[in-house]
Amino acid sequence: MMNKTIPIRIDKTKQSRLETTNFDNLAFGQIISDHMFVAEYKDGEWQELRIEPYGPMQINPANATLHYGQSVFEGLKAYRNEKGEILVFRGDANQRRLNESARRMCIPEVPEEIFMEGMRKLLEIDKDWIPRQPGCSLYIRPFVFAADDYLGIRPSNNYKFMILTSPVGNYYSKPVAVKVETQYARAVEGGTGAAKAAGNYAGSLFPARKAQNEGYDQLLWTDGKTHQYIEESGTMNVMFVIDGKLITAPTSTGTILKGITRDSVLILAREMNMPVEERFLAVGELEEALISGKLEEAFGTGTAATVAFIRLINIHGKDYVLPEKADGAFSTRVLTQLDDIKYGRIKDEYGWIM
Ligand code: COI
Repeated sequence: MMNKTIPIRIDKTKQSRLETTNFDNLAFGQIISDHMFVAEYKDGEWQELRIEPYGPMQINPANATLHYGQSVFEGLKAYRNEKGEILVFRGDANQRRLNESARRMCIPEVPEEIFMEGMRKLLEIDKDWIPRQPGCSLYIRPFVFAADDYLGIRPSNNYKFMILTSPVGNYYSKPVAVKVETQYARAVEGGTGAAKAAGNYAGSLFPARKAQNEGYDQLLWTDGKTHQYIEESGTMNVMFVIDGKLITAPTSTGTILKGITRDSVLILAREMNMPVEERFLAVGELEEALISGKLEEAFGTGTAATVAFIRLINIHGKDYVLPEKADGAFSTRVLTQLDDIKYGRIKDEYGWIM
């Protein structure tokens, strides 16, 4: 991590919640650690950098984010290795992606040193919130949102950049059932799908809830124009192993989030001599592969879950159960390798760990 120190005012809580927090059976995102990082964008610059106790903040009812959703976020994780050191996985990639999302939403970029030093100091102060339980980690949520109190629609002049952290366990406790969505779209070409913009997630809730009411965990999103090609799954990128090849959607259309776990899995796959095809998979081809038995594995990739195994896919009203995962399945091997790197159990050959 960067050594450059920038002034951050620190106001520590007088009443830590650590002792009264139950770290067993951590549900995703329910518990927020003692402190948060805050920076204000005013008069064209980021200022008032501080770490303060996590808690409610005052917000004006005319706040632009509440009305127009000019807001972007990131998600990354900190792990504890056997020596008790804190390891952050690919934080530089998250910092860059936050700013890519920010540009798309007319939000000023957050300088690298503010992102990194804010996160570093916050982790130093709240390091005891990194769970010691196997498979657990500290989820880090940086986000930027418009702070003007103004009902007119235009890019805000003022913003807040904040970082929260949250001790988490497994995102999904078991393999998921997904349904191919052919009515609603998560993203369209020219839209905001490649940005980690708050509104993308709001728009996905209604179709996802419909699928959940029908008994599925999540959706397999298809392209917004023809609904014939698979794009993502739920809030994750999605990958398929068909006939020994790893297939996932390319990020060139602007409709796919450039997942950092996606990128890491593709790098590791190539290292493992797994043939990789970054191309759009047609729903018809997926269905044929399910029928012929050529579909070996399907899984989502994302920071929250790392790898979420898919056990069932519904296509046009028909449920297809995936085959039992074979010993040495790619998704299991790649998950193990990623976890080994993240927890510092094997050497990080890629410069991913900070
Ligand atoms: C992720 O998979 O890491 C996500 O972005 C999920 C998050 C919206 C909870």
